[in-house]
Amino acid sequence: MKPESKFKRHLITSALPYANGPLHIGHLAGVYIPADIYTRYLRLKKKDVIHICGSDEHGVPITLKAREQGTTPQQIVDKYHLLNKESFEKLGIPFDIYSRTSSAIHHETSSEFFKNLHNKGVFTEKTIYQYYDEEAGQFLSDRYITGTCPHCNSENAYGDQCESCGTSLNQNDLINPRSAITNSAPVRKKTKHWFLPLDKYEKFLKAWILEENKHWKSNVYGQCKSWLDQGLQPRAVSRDLSWGVPIPVEGAKGKVMYVWFDAPIGYISATRELTAEWEKYWKNKETRLVHFIGKDNIVFHCIIFPVMLKAEGSYILPENVPANEFLNLEGNKISTSRNWAVWLHEYLEEFPGKEDVLRYVLCANMPETKDNDFTWKDFQSRNNNELVAILGNFVNRALVLTHKYFNGKVPERKDLNDYDMYILSELPQLKNKVEHNLEQFRFREALKEAMNMARLGNKYLADTEPWIIIKTDTARVETILNISLQIVASLSALIEPFIPFSAAKLKASLNIEKIAWEDIGKTTFLPSGHTINKPELLFEKIEDNEIKKQLDKLMKNSKTQEEQGTDVEPLKENISYEDFAKVDIRTGTVLKAEKVAKTKKLVKLTVDTGIDKRTVVAGIAEYFEPSNIEGKKVCILVNLSPRKIRGIESQGMILMAENPQGKLVFVSPEGEIQNGSVVK
Ligand code: MF3
Ligand code: ZN
Repeated sequence: MKPESKFKRHLITSALPYANGPLHIGHLAGVYIPADIYTRYLRLKKKDVIHICGSDEHGVPITLKAREQGTTPQQIVDKYHLLNKESFEKLGIPFDIYSRTSSAIHHETSSEFFKNLHNKGVFTEKTIYQYYDEEAGQFLSDRYITGTCPHCNSENAYGDQCESCGTSLNQNDLINPRSAITNSAPVRKKTKHWFLPLDKYEKFLKAWILEENKHWKSNVYGQCKSWLDQGLQPRAVSRDLSWGVPIPVEGAKGKVMYVWFDAPIGYISATRELTAEWEKYWKNKETRLVHFIGKDNIVFHCIIFPVMLKAEGSYILPENVPANEFLNLEGNKISTSRNWAVWLHEYLEEFPGKEDVLRYVLCANMPETKDNDFTWKDFQSRNNNELVAILGNFVNRALVLTHKYFNGKVPERKDLNDYDMYILSELPQLKNKVEHNLEQFRFREALKEAMNMARLGNKYLADTEPWIIIKTDTARVETILNISLQIVASLSALIEPFIPFSAAKLKASLNIEKIAWEDIGKTTFLPSGHTINKPELLFEKIEDNEIKKQLDKLMKNSKTQEEQGTDVEPLKENISYEDFAKVDIRTGTVLKAEKVAKTKKLVKLTVDTGIDKRTVVAGIAEYFEPSNIEGKKVCILVNLSPRKIRGIESQGMILMAENPQGKLVFVSPEGEIQNGSVVK
């Protein structure tokens, strides 16, 4: 490891969150809180530092979500880009820039990057067989294809990864592959792709990571070593998709970059957007590049992106990649689909003014070396027993007593006894401990040491009891409160990286401006006679009912896996076979589908029933894009009495399955069968 003094500036990046959903506490504890703490710390040390982030707006999940909601990928990413950007700001994470990968500057930057590598002959081009969905007329990659995992037999593995066992997969590994678009069995078709030959960089990676970067966190180093021990394969960096950055070379019509190729280049594009001097940050050996990420991103930031940077040749490589593990919630994995999460935008609304409480609790529980658990009970007790009882209590006592005894003026420091000297000598020690831990990316320990300064202050007041000796020895009380206020002032800088809102309140209460990191532990910034303001409330107790409300909400809105299976409509009354036999259901094909004007849900379908071609109106527009269901095989109830819906005569009903949340899917014949076949 190069000593920090070798570097002139710091380039901090935080993983670009996907703009297809809101942020939750797992993202925060894993990536953004530590990155913000670290950046704030460097800034307090007056370092040249920029913190880069933005939305990752490409990739298959975004296109699938758009399809599901009958909207466009751009609309999805516009919505979440804004929401996430605002949420970060409200939580006190002020990136120097929060950019996005659908921007023009990013398309330009990643195109240039690709062309550069292409011109240098870095890529290999290969024509390969890929799964193709004939119904949708589309190649299937990554999450467009699902199937059974060959390692753990989970039935919901994706073409790029099995989420059950975490193995990264090749789509050909899947057993019984299905299209995520139509659920049909895909065929194999030839298509050309561009590959990044990772295998050719093994030697470089082994030397760079295994030898030069032994100082990386052991969870990161270990994962890299295991990838390198297994041996690397060439990785396709192109996809047959329409959403993404087009491959900017000849013969690549209809192809875009793999999302994991363009997304990390997003760090560079964002820096370009931020400053004309961006090359100073990316192409100068005196810059220290640090990537903050979650553990699922390690291979991309430690292996693939560095190979891209190395192959390009003019960029620096990361000096460190302090990836965290995962945060669980109340003992279970956080899950977006099961709504098992604490969403940042909801927290900010439900706990106004308590941004620091969340920051504090997430830092105190940060999953630094192993997965960790967030519980609402722990949230409450850390607030009540630590923020209120230790930090809030000390600060409040020091400020209130100063107002009470000395009219809000900093009293003079008189003769110091041994105990005073000891207290004062502890301050720089604590600062050094915080600093040392932060440099090692040990945020929990750093926070603990910072809180130890408040503990020390509390102990000092409890031991010296100024409220008792005020009756006999005012001069002594002056000294005690002077020292206490100096501790408060040190704290206002020491806690700033972790809980910046409270730090600002402390400075306001002390009536002081910025304090630099170097000044922590010095006891001179509050001259005697300086007037302090009335104390601002820092923290307040969180009562049981608030915690119960959060737990109830979590239980109510979420579904455990078992519940998902059993949450069904109750059984209807029995009917006779004769009743059933009256129903005439046939197989058919949707020939045409168009939205019914001025309605939100209705689609007018023309269906070939094998008997005739007829019109059916269905309330499915929220779930399907009309053009995507043309050609779809369906089951249709053909002897339902015709009804007029919005002036259109609907002759029958398409069979759909509907879950309790109202989500609809087609009930379609499986396998080849002619239209008009009887369903019984
Ligand atoms: N969007 C990715 C995720 O949430 C992270 C992308 S990081 C970048 O896992 F480097 F690619 F930008
Ligand atoms: Zn698996």
